[in-house]
Amino acid sequence: MLLPILRWPDPRLSQVCAPAVLDDDLRALAVDMLETMYAAPGRGLAAPQVGRLVRMFVMDVDWKTGTLAPMVFVNPEIELLGDRATGPEGCLSIPGPVTDVERAACVRARWTALDGTLHEARFDGFAAICIQHEYDHLDGILTLDRLSPEARALAVAEVQA
Ligand code: NI
Repeated sequence: MLLPILRWPDPRLSQVCAPAVLDDDLRALAVDMLETMYAAPGRGLAAPQVGRLVRMFVMDVDWKTGTLAPMVFVNPEIELLGDRATGPEGCLSIPGPVTDVERAACVRARWTALDGTLHEARFDGFAAICIQHEYDHLDGILTLDRLSPEARALAVAEVQA
């Protein structure tokens, strides 16, 4: 089922999310979030973006090249590794502007998958950026919040009505 994606400045996008409870409701939410992400189209989507303030996000960084590889991160923890670099990011909740955000080049993530198994892996490249972006959503942090006041004002002016 496609879910409506909340848009900034909806206050639900600025809340710190609660730990997720892995049950049938959460599994159904993850399936709906993946469908919504692919339809948007996007490569990552966090639960608060569909109005559910729980710590879960979905990601598939390569699907636009052909093969679907959906990932669901329940209650993720991340450790930032490597150098910091600034690169362009968009957000489905902030349609329009692409903003330059500073991120770590690598992350080590620990999370629970939908089947309840625990995972740990290291990510780099676009996946590392995407994980940091989606993880930020779980803490109520948007790309706009990581910009200088000047850059934020420019980005806000670009947000599509
Ligand atoms: Ni986003």
